[in-house]
Amino acid sequence: MAEQLRLDKLLADTGLWSRKEARDLIRRGQVTVDGAVVKQPEAKVDPAQSSLTAAGQPVVWQKYTYIMMNKPGGVLTATEDRRQPTVLDLLPQELRRKQLRPVGRLDKDTEGLLLLTDDGALAHRLLAPKSHVDKVYYAETEGTVDEDDVAAFAAGMTLGDGLVCQSAGLERLGPDRCLVTLREGKFHQVKRMLAARGKPVQYLKRLSMGALTLDEALEPGAWRPLTEEETRKVKGKTGGDLAK
Ligand code: URA
Repeated sequence: MAEQLRLDKLLADTGLWSRKEARDLIRRGQVTVDGAVVKQPEAKVDPAQSSLTAAGQPVVWQKYTYIMMNKPGGVLTATEDRRQPTVLDLLPQELRRKQLRPVGRLDKDTEGLLLLTDDGALAHRLLAPKSHVDKVYYAETEGTVDEDDVAAFAAGMTLGDGLVCQSAGLERLGPDRCLVTLREGKFHQVKRMLAARGKPVQYLKRLSMGALTLDEALEPGAWRPLTEEETRKVKGKTGGDLAK
């Protein structure tokens, strides 16, 4: 049986408009369903069967929601916390009502790319060690990363506390800045690897995860839905697709 949804909910579900903005758009006659203007926010529509436009643009409805966030420092990668703000607190009510979860975890003081979704299967696949999804981080360090550090990262490292790290990429950008590429995601891994080399991290930002790259137009704390193209890329079924 086809799923009928309220038109205002359907638009708000895309993450592009709040429920109120969606209602206003509809009432102003800026939303069409199968070519006809519909002015009732409560009108029921089957998104799988109907073609929609809003403000002259096609609206692509998806079963799941995919949000790119530029996580700011000072916010927990969690869905709730009694004392501290979480990344979910940065989203509007409409999106918070969904079962969105961060895909992977950034430390409280780490900034950068965070994907949030209610597509549990995709999250699972992206995080599975066998998917080998590259994560690229920009790091500023105390002390200068040198060729020995690059070689140590490439060879893989066993840290003093016993943590075994697979081969990782390290690219020097300047005396106190570098790019780190990990194919795994162990607790505080970038910080621990660089600290083990005597170059503690002062600032850390994730730039990309597989084929998904942080939109630099997003200020820390800002977010947007993934574009169709990004969603398609991130959903690539094989490890190869995910890894670019
Ligand atoms: N590695 C870290 O040390 N911290 C992060 O937040 C992510 C990767």
